[in-house]
Amino acid sequence: MKTLILFASKYGAAEKCANLLSEKLNGDVNIINLKENKNINLSDYDKVIVGCSIYVGNVQAEIKNFCDTNSVSLMAKPFGLFISCMTDKKDEINSYTEKSFSNELINHATIIDSLGAVFNFKKMNFFERQIVKMILNSKNKTDELNIKVDGKTNISTISDEKILKFASVMND
Ligand SMILES: Cc1cc2nc3c(=O)[nH]c(=O)nc-3n(C[C@H](O)[C@H](O)[C@H](O)COP(=O)(O)O)c2cc1C
Repeated sequence: MKTLILFASKYGAAEKCANLLSEKLNGDVNIINLKENKNINLSDYDKVIVGCSIYVGNVQAEIKNFCDTNSVSLMAKPFGLFISCMTDKKDEINSYTEKSFSNELINHATIIDSLGAVFNFKKMNFFERQIVKMILNSKNKTDELNIKVDGKTNISTISDEKILKFASVMND
């Protein structure tokens, strides 16, 4: 059994999710960063997991394009989709995925979930820092999150529990 985890990541959170997930999957796992390697042969794999992150409501264009171009191959095998983002809410996660992936691929997916986010304030530019602080503070006010945000200390909400659940569904 050979599984591909194909990801795109701006600051490393989706990459971290890919690495943590690979440790929990059965069989051989190959992890590929789509921004570094575009030469991917899906017929080499029995299962495919795609991982990406969300920026102002959108997944990385490379991931969207890859899934569109390869939808026939992806539909022919077990497929999982994880996102790294700041929400845990099902309706928000659905709105992100519906915007970027075809209904056919979404319906075909064995599992779609958010595995959590990393906020690496030191790597963000000034505007990104302001956007993230603003969104996190508004989520804190509605009790969706309870995270102390000072705009300097990095935050990780990556969930071991969600990674285990994702892996066990893909291992079935
Ligand atoms: C400028 C900016 C905009 C973001 N927009 C969203 C968003 O619209 N929704 C969301 O859930 N997360 C959003 N995030 C959070 C990222 O998706 C999260 O930090 C993720 O872990 C980044 O993963 P990466 O390092 O793999 O790219 C945003 C982060 C930044 C810096």
